[in-house]
Amino acid sequence: MNINTIATTPCPGQKPGTSGLRKKVNVFQQAHYLENFVQSIFNVATELKGGLLILGGDGRYYNTRAIQIILKMAAAYGVKRVMVGEHGLLSTPAVSCLIRKHQAAGGIILSASHNPGGIDGDFGIKFNINNGGPAPTSFTDAVYEISKNISEYQIADAEDIALDGQQTSHIGDMQIDVIDSVSDYAELMAQLFDFEKIKALFSSGQLSMCFDAMHAVTGPYAREIFEHRLSANVDAVINGIPLEDFGGGHPDPNLAHASELVAQLNAGPAAPGFGAASDGDGDRNMILGRNFFVNPSDSLAIMTANAHLLPGYKLGIRGVARSLPTSRAVDKVAEAMGIDCYETPTGWKYFGNLLDDKRITLCGEESFGSGSDHIREKDGIWAVLFWLNLIAVKQQSVEEITRSHWQQYGRHYYTRHDYEAIDNEVAEALMQNLRTQAASLKAKEYDGYKILLCDDFSYTDPVDHSVTEHQGIRILFEDESRIVFRLSGTGTEGATLRVYIERYVTDIASHDMPTQTALAELINIADNIAEIKTRCQREQPDVIT
Ligand code: G1P
Ligand code: ZN
Repeated sequence: MNINTIATTPCPGQKPGTSGLRKKVNVFQQAHYLENFVQSIFNVATELKGGLLILGGDGRYYNTRAIQIILKMAAAYGVKRVMVGEHGLLSTPAVSCLIRKHQAAGGIILSASHNPGGIDGDFGIKFNINNGGPAPTSFTDAVYEISKNISEYQIADAEDIALDGQQTSHIGDMQIDVIDSVSDYAELMAQLFDFEKIKALFSSGQLSMCFDAMHAVTGPYAREIFEHRLSANVDAVINGIPLEDFGGGHPDPNLAHASELVAQLNAGPAAPGFGAASDGDGDRNMILGRNFFVNPSDSLAIMTANAHLLPGYKLGIRGVARSLPTSRAVDKVAEAMGIDCYETPTGWKYFGNLLDDKRITLCGEESFGSGSDHIREKDGIWAVLFWLNLIAVKQQSVEEITRSHWQQYGRHYYTRHDYEAIDNEVAEALMQNLRTQAASLKAKEYDGYKILLCDDFSYTDPVDHSVTEHQGIRILFEDESRIVFRLSGTGTEGATLRVYIERYVTDIASHDMPTQTALAELINIADNIAEIKTRCQREQPDVIT
């Protein structure tokens, strides 16, 4: 094998965000851009030398091109073996599953998650370590430092590898196995959930479902698991073929972007009883009942309260964790169960230590993410199976399960308002203004809502004691309402301000308000305190979830 050493100069801005490095496709296509970053990863992940690497992506534009480059660089670096998904496809949870199952040294996932794809869309790359989870900040910081000073990279002089069809080939001494993208993952799901019971739901005609794969990576997974293994209705999976531009759509499973699914579920008495969608790389989930939306924060709480009913969790759960902006619905359940509930910064990487240290079994985020200790990523298909199994055990609809949960634990009305593509300086100044005010806000009262606490959230990891600061301004009110402000770490254009608002209501007579109405006063208070409209020159948020 001939290895070429290529001279390069640093590409600015290769600092990974909440979830890897995300940029526009044309940024990644610049000379040496991808190569610099991959070499920087290799220089930190020395365990890959002589080790196994899992490699795949969500199928977006530039996926297979990037895979070919990474394979040649991996061979030059001395990786022993690479398992790559057929057609270059692997969902994020499948990569996590494969790393753990095959004791890989790490995995590279090519995805910009729920961001649009195609030639004018976004591309991304993230590295997962040998526990199957996203690399911790110490790792990504080290990668960034190297990227700032890189002067050369190595790449094997080799032909492209065929990615269609499961086969074994070599670049020099490095073995490349093109594997079935789905089977190992599907086996893991069958161990966690009662497939027979779920199958009976469908075969008895009691339930039909609609899963929107949004032309992203979960299509093949959903077909194999829902249609083949669980014998769901034949039309259960829509938009099931992965496309490089996701069919022009925005592969984000929410009420706005999964509109075809939402229309099906709201189509009256003939609508399917269960609906779900996942995102570009298959780690997010949205759960719907007939004409009913399950807020992701509620979903985590409901999962926590009921996990013991499902085979994979029948011994009970150890503890739970949620990210700061996720509603405190799960806190109520944890309190009642007498288990620990951790509050972490935004991003799945903060759950890794808690899972590895066996402090928690379930974890989740408001941004349509939930997961468990079965892997070290959030997992869309897993969440769908969790709900299907729950429906089969409880013999109740999605709406009935959710309403009875509210009845028992109270309801957390919850919304997120996003202000997108704000000028970076304006966004920073808004956050700085909140930080400066924080201490003085305590005990102030707005429209009858009295502030109990206001701070800039800082997290000390209980396992490795690392400290992560400035993770968002949280304002807690005496009636348990809460407002959180933070800036997105995944955007690729300007800054995105996220405002998270919640209100806790125990009286079931008040569980039927439209969410924005129930939260109207707090939405105003958020604007008053942060001066959003005046500073951002916006009358409305761009996206309301
Ligand atoms: C967003 C979500 C966050 C999630 C991340 C990766 O990050 O808010 O919960 O972990 O995407 O999927 P943000 O853009 O808010 O930094
Ligand atoms: Zn994702």
